[in-house]
Amino acid sequence: MTDSQSVRDGAAPAGVWAAPGRVNLIGEHTDYNDGFVLPVALPQAARAAVRLRTDGLLRLHSEQVDGGPVELTVADLAPGSVDGWAKYPAAVVWTLRAAGYEVGGADVRIDSSVPTGAGLSSSAAIECVVATAYNDLHGLGLDGPALARLAQRAENEFVGVPCGIMDQMASVCCTEGNALFLDTRDLAQRQVPLDLAGAGLRLLVVDTRVKHDLADGAYAELRAGCERAAALLGLPALRDLDPAGLDTALDRLPADLRPLVRHVVTENARVREAVTHLYLGDPAALGPILTAGHASLRDDYEVSCPETDLAVDTAVAAGALGARMTGGGFGGSVIALTAADTLDAVAAAVTSAFTDAGYEAPRTFTAVPAAGARRVE
Ligand code: GLA
Repeated sequence: MTDSQSVRDGAAPAGVWAAPGRVNLIGEHTDYNDGFVLPVALPQAARAAVRLRTDGLLRLHSEQVDGGPVELTVADLAPGSVDGWAKYPAAVVWTLRAAGYEVGGADVRIDSSVPTGAGLSSSAAIECVVATAYNDLHGLGLDGPALARLAQRAENEFVGVPCGIMDQMASVCCTEGNALFLDTRDLAQRQVPLDLAGAGLRLLVVDTRVKHDLADGAYAELRAGCERAAALLGLPALRDLDPAGLDTALDRLPADLRPLVRHVVTENARVREAVTHLYLGDPAALGPILTAGHASLRDDYEVSCPETDLAVDTAVAAGALGARMTGGGFGGSVIALTAADTLDAVAAAVTSAFTDAGYEAPRTFTAVPAAGARRVE
């Protein structure tokens, strides 16, 4: 029996949901500083067929992982109790219950086209698809930002990664054809039209295949450094530092924190500048902003790596309007904004530069702004 049949037959509530991965145009490492971000949802998404169970079991199956389903007892879920990919769906069920929702187990079958470890939010996609499915099946009535907050809490408290809210908000709240201009302080959001095709442009994604792992401590250290800097400056968050006062503020900080602050303040300004160009109908003007953002991530924030730097430099040398790493860094993916007719040449140049450097061939594809989490069947 298919899941949609079981719904028709009046069996356990069931359906199929999808939640996308994302690229971020600009605004990296700003979200945990209460700043601005500008992500775009990808057509690549996690799909989940979900059917509620009444016996307290959570049976999780992934099409991407060999072996049978992972079977968990909902009442026994606790942070640290689940390993591997299954911790992401389990985290959501645990968090819903920790938040006071009386939810139980389910059969969950996940099929995701979001590359893992590529900085494209494959884990947020899984969290958000399960959160959205539970919200619908249990009639919880949570709106997009509430679902994203829940998924972020799942990642923070159950998975143990102190991530910001960008990836979950992108996966839930992005809409087709738009970038999501998000103020991560109050989750105020605006859909900003991103008509790349209409402007004769393309957005190339280069997955360097260097696996990033945000749980490895570096991300947490950066976040702690930003929070320390804000405290030393007497600010609630680095978002509150006026760019006009940047130099004076830097003089008041220890040398190791200055580059972090400079990145966050200039990056927030780049997001607002990028949004203005999009509202003016000039997406090509994002090019230099992307490249400047990469320089800041490479030189000030120090989260790039030789492979992402090579992809950016080669893309720009081959005619891209601009390029930068996207996501947390330490590997992962690069985006390059190109004219439609230079897309292939840029992709080929990056691929051959990787071969020449002895790196594994990157995976390349074109990003088209897609829809956020939704029921699909
Ligand atoms: C990861 C985190 C996000 C964000 C980015 C960096 O993707 O999950 O919250 O901090 O890194 O911008």
